[in-house]
Amino acid sequence: MSKRSPLPYAVPNRARPAEPPKGFDSPGAYPRVRMRRNRADAWNRALVAEHRLSAADLIWPVFLHDQDGRAPIPSMPGVDRLGLGPLVDAVGQARDLGIPVIAPFPATPAGRKTEDGDEALNPDNLVCNAVRAIKKAFPDIGVMCDVALDPYTSHGHDGLLRDGVIVNDDTVAVLCRQAVLQAEAGCDIIAPSDMMDGRVGAIRDALDRAGFMDVRIMSYAAKYASAFYGPFRDALGAVSNSPGNKRDKTTYQMDPANSDEALREVALDLAEGADMVMVKPGLPYLDIVRRVKDTFGVPTFAYMVSGEYSIIKGAALQGWIDGEAAMMEALLGFKRAGADGVLTYFAVDAATVLKRG
Ligand code: PBG
Repeated sequence: MSKRSPLPYAVPNRARPAEPPKGFDSPGAYPRVRMRRNRADAWNRALVAEHRLSAADLIWPVFLHDQDGRAPIPSMPGVDRLGLGPLVDAVGQARDLGIPVIAPFPATPAGRKTEDGDEALNPDNLVCNAVRAIKKAFPDIGVMCDVALDPYTSHGHDGLLRDGVIVNDDTVAVLCRQAVLQAEAGCDIIAPSDMMDGRVGAIRDALDRAGFMDVRIMSYAAKYASAFYGPFRDALGAVSNSPGNKRDKTTYQMDPANSDEALREVALDLAEGADMVMVKPGLPYLDIVRRVKDTFGVPTFAYMVSGEYSIIKGAALQGWIDGEAAMMEALLGFKRAGADGVLTYFAVDAATVLKRG
């Protein structure tokens, strides 16, 4: 029999104190509701868990380069740019872990970047070649391609720059051709990240006209002008967000001050034919994820962007936080906020943890 504890609430709730706590005449009379009961054992916590992360929730963005091997990205420790060989190996590993979708992003060689980003329309560019290689090796994994011009333009903007302005409709015309080219290469999900007006509807029409009725669109519907994209722009060799070298995208990406506007963006993209919508960045915008899911009830994704990755990874490398625990907690947070899935550079790490159990 356990000894009477001086602190009755510290006694595990299965081992009832021999006598009721002082001041109460029947055991368990206070408090009647004990929230800690359901937290007392691992089996009980598993039983009542409201949300669960699985590998099937993860989309893995990967960076491509035009060399053979791998090259580290200094501002994203643990993430490499991959040549075609390492890419196919990595995709095989991801597939074996149960990750359903890969999203390749190209670090276009500087010599191929131009004012108008023509390389986006080269059927043999890095992304198209990667899509063909992935689909050939693993026809059963989903491939998602970004539609925007920033990996290809010398100025780093997502659209065509005319007299200091990112022009909307001419950009959309190019994006439609880019989308069809990617679909021809075998891409399953077209993901416009450019934030031009009307691009989802125009791309849907272009895909349908080219016979790609079944190619899906996941729109970057609520994409904010964010400082958290900095390491991504480094990874692509795009004009970086780093201090003194800033690329201002505030005339097309959303103002972080706004939330109702995100719902209008999502409503428009759905009306134009988006199959899935995305909120980006992730952790600072979980309120938007929740509002989108509650309002529309459609497949809703969040992009945990490069800066969010690097914050966790960087702090973990310093020994300041438990990187694995922080990664899993953050990813579960997306599910709790209502996301159906997450784009994350942690996809393989997280899927490895989930497999280990
Ligand atoms: C560009 C694009 C960006 C990201 C995905 N697509 C950067 C930007 O808008 O400048 C960012 C992803 C990340 O930071 O991980 N169209």
